[in-house]
This record gives sequence, C-alpha cells and structure tokens, in this order.
Amino acid sequence: MTAAGTFGYGTEFNSIFDIQKLGAIVCKGTTLTPREGNLQPRLAETAGGLLNSIGLQNIGVKALIREKAPAWSSWRVPVIVNIAGETVDDYARLASELEGVTGISGLEINISCPNVKAGGAEFGTNPGTATKVTTTVKTSTSLPVIVKLTPNTNEIAQIAAAVAEAGADALSLINTVKGMYLDITTRQPLLGNRTGGLSGPAIKPIALSMVYEVAGAVTIPIIGCGGITTANDALEFIMAGASAIQVGTATFNNPHAPLDILEGIEQFMKTEAIEDITELIGAARSQANEKIGRAEIRDG
Ligand SMILES: Cc1cc2nc3c(=O)[nH]c(=O)nc-3n(C[C@H](O)[C@H](O)[C@H](O)COP(=O)(O)O)c2cc1C
Repeated sequence: MTAAGTFGYGTEFNSIFDIQKLGAIVCKGTTLTPREGNLQPRLAETAGGLLNSIGLQNIGVKALIREKAPAWSSWRVPVIVNIAGETVDDYARLASELEGVTGISGLEINISCPNVKAGGAEFGTNPGTATKVTTTVKTSTSLPVIVKLTPNTNEIAQIAAAVAEAGADALSLINTVKGMYLDITTRQPLLGNRTGGLSGPAIKPIALSMVYEVAGAVTIPIIGCGGITTANDALEFIMAGASAIQVGTATFNNPHAPLDILEGIEQFMKTEAIEDITELIGAARSQANEKIGRAEIRDG
C-alpha cells in the first residue's frame, strides 16, 4: 500500500507506473472542510529522514467525493480514504459522508497526526479517546475501518488493544515521530509550525519494534509503516507481524518504490520457495516465543 499523504490521490502517479498492481492506495488525509495547512517551510531533510509539518492540507471531503472518487471506481486497486478530525463528531460526519460512495474501499482513521492544533495526536495518545473515535466511526460506516496509531506514546500496545476491542478491522502503524530542526543562523526552528513529524529510514527501527510489540497485543491484521524503502525492509515488518505494509517517504526519492518493493517481495518468495506470504507473517515472533519456551524448559 501507499502511505497517506505521500501519494496524493493516486491519480498523480498514474502516468509514472501501473498503480493498478499495488495492493491498495491510501489517499491524503481528508477533513470535513478544505485545509490550507501550516505555515511554510513545512519540510526539512534530516539524517536518514524527513521532517514534515504539512498540517493536513487537503481539498476537503466534498471535493474528494466529487472530483476524485469517480476515477477510483474504475480502478482495480482499492482506494482507502484517510480521514482526520478535530472532534469525535468530525470523524462520525466524515464516515457518514463517505458511506456508499463508489470507488472507496475502506477508511483509515488518522488519530495520530502530530501537526494539527486541535484533536490529532490527542486522540491517539489516550486509550479512552482512541476507543471513542473507533466506536463512533464503526457505527457510522459499513466500510472496513483501519485505525492508524501514533508512535508518540509509551502505551502503543494498550491503545492497539483498546482500539481492536472497540471493533477496528485492522491497525496501521506508525505515523510520524515528533521532531524539530533548528536553523542556527536564525536561531529558530526551521519549520513554520516549529515541530514536525519525522519519517523515512531514520524511524524504521522504532516502527519495527512497535509492530512487533503490537503484534503481541492484538489478533486483528497489522499494516506496518515507517521508513520502508526496500523489499528487505518490508519483509522485516512482515516477519515482525505485519500482514501488509505501507510505503511513504521512499516514494519521494523513487516514485516507483511501492512497486519495486512489491516485486522484491515476490522475488524473495521465489528464491526461498515460499508459496504463501502468510508463512512469513510474524515469523520473528513465533521463533522468539519458541526460543523463550525452550529456554524456560531448559532453565526449569
Ligand atoms: C509529507 C507527508 C505527509 C503525510 N500526511 C499524512 C496524512 O495526511 N495522514 C496520515 O495519516 N499520515 C500522513 N503522513 C504519515 C505517513 O503516512 C507515514 O505514516 C509516515 O510518513 C511513516 O512512513 P514513511 O517513513 O514510509 O514515510 C504523512 C507523511 C509525510 C512525509
């Protein structure tokens, strides 16, 4: 899958490669009304990463339904709409607006954007509010609901379990990691919003360990995301417990990255004579458990 906010509405990439080969496209975070986003500058490159503070600039749900969904309805690749609100009611209204619109195959609830003043990360850092948003969206839609989790908490496993209990169909993790960049000539933060969200290879080890941890806390499918740049990265996430993966920042360097990664996974499966990718899901976890089990037996 493509990661929200890094692949526009899919239409932009149509002429670059055959996007119909992808597993799914997750579109830019969508709000009830159009948003201009945060003050410029909104992007800064860091060592192995990208710091962004876009602030959910988007065309709003009505324009998305009018201008984007009609094209999606003829696509083979499913399109998942990423939604974001400032209140619990915003999420319910977004889900209701998108109900029954052809061309939309699922909703991804962004309760984890660190770049909006109201709501955003607040919902994703508390199991109670994360549950409330999930329950509300589930009762407002018949579409599959994916809840996207933030890494900016030390309770990710508890939040994942609460959201799963509330009826989420799947989880995606992680969103960006809160960070800052200072310009030493102005002695001020470079980003207009002062702080931003870090993505790219720099966050991969964080994302991987969180997928591994969450895989031990829930039984619903996990979509791994965070710094995935190569097929090997994707395979690590699958072995940590992800059933699918999303590619974000890598696409900025190489627009073909999602397809290259998919083909790389297929190549790995051929080389290793793996018939079904599900054989690999959580492989690292089961071996770790076996090792722990053996150690326990050995150690009495
Ligand atoms: C420029 C930019 C915009 C983003 N916009 C959104 C968004 O609208 N909604 C969302 O849930 N995540 C958004 N994200 C987060 C990504 O979907 C992804 O979770 C994160 O970047 C980590 O994956 P990556 O390292 O592969 O980019 C954005 C990330 C970037 C870099």
